[in-house]
Amino acid sequence: MIRSVVRGIGASLPRRIMKNADFEGMVETSDEWIAQRTGIRQRHIAADDETTASLGEAAARAALANAGLTPDDIDLIVLATSTPNNTFPATSVEIQNRLGMRHGFAFDMQAVCSGFVYAVTTADLYIRGGLAKRVLVIGSETFSRILDWSDRSTCVLFGDGAGALVLEAAEGAGSIDDRGVLAASLRSDGEHKEKLFVDGGPSTTGTIGHLRMEGREVFKHAVGMITDVIEAVFSQAGVTAQDIDWFVPHQANKRIIDASAKKLGIADEKVVVTVNLHGNTSAASVPLALSAAVADGRIKRGDLVLLEAMGGGFTWGAVLVRW
Ligand code: UT7
Repeated sequence: MIRSVVRGIGASLPRRIMKNADFEGMVETSDEWIAQRTGIRQRHIAADDETTASLGEAAARAALANAGLTPDDIDLIVLATSTPNNTFPATSVEIQNRLGMRHGFAFDMQAVCSGFVYAVTTADLYIRGGLAKRVLVIGSETFSRILDWSDRSTCVLFGDGAGALVLEAAEGAGSIDDRGVLAASLRSDGEHKEKLFVDGGPSTTGTIGHLRMEGREVFKHAVGMITDVIEAVFSQAGVTAQDIDWFVPHQANKRIIDASAKKLGIADEKVVVTVNLHGNTSAASVPLALSAAVADGRIKRGDLVLLEAMGGGFTWGAVLVRW
């Protein structure tokens, strides 16, 4: 059977780093509160000339270089983002143009923080369905543009950045030992819209709006939703928590990550954490964390890697990949 195998990975972060202490003169907060409640120590914030498209392009170029490929080798770009450069056209098409691609096709996916998990699942279906041989899957965000910088309960939590994977069609035996995407489970439930949303948009206010979140409410649902969807992936693939080599969760809050890993029975040393360095970068958080763990040699070819995310909508999902 056809499998979607990871051929390359890359990342890109804005030049500017903003430390927790940098908020202390702006809103009533402290490095101590932010670090204790979230695990975040710093985040990258995009300058005016750094956009979702430019960061996405840089991550895509890094992933292509890592794969030993050029844009000519790519059939499809799927970009997960909730902070596009323009309402339309899709920012993925802008990235396609920046890469000099005059063939193939590109589209954006909007599932907020779960966007990358949705995009990998979608790319896998295009590959297995025979519509594409090589897909660039990108998560790129500039959440700094939609933050209310006077709201301490949200502005300290998010950051900007991008990560990308090249997925490639390869023949597999159809077993759990195959490399590539092995199982996926996606969920959404619009009942929870008001707990995490942006209070503007083209069809309602005609403005971009600002991110609004009832953090405690999101927290209350997060661990249960994350672990449910992971259990679904485990049973699909016939694996257990003990079989997982690396758990790469969405990076929103260290306490959510720890509680999820504990509930699933995944050992601390198998959990990849970058929330301290990047904050919550929404659809970019999973590929940024993956990229860090591949770059430092933790994730190696053949490892069983569990990806997970949960966010606005609510949306949530998990993907199991053999690297
Ligand atoms: O990526 C999408 C998914 N999003 C998430 O997963 C986020 C989920 N939620 C969270 O991570 C946490 O709920 C937060 C980090 C947002 C908040 O942590 P918490 O432990 O749930 O705190 P809280 O909202 O219950 O607030 C505790 C106190 C409040 O004061 P009172 O009412 O106890 O007097 C807040 O006003 O902390 C206050 N507070 C702050 N204090 C200092 C809220 N934000 C800040 C701040 N600095 N930045």
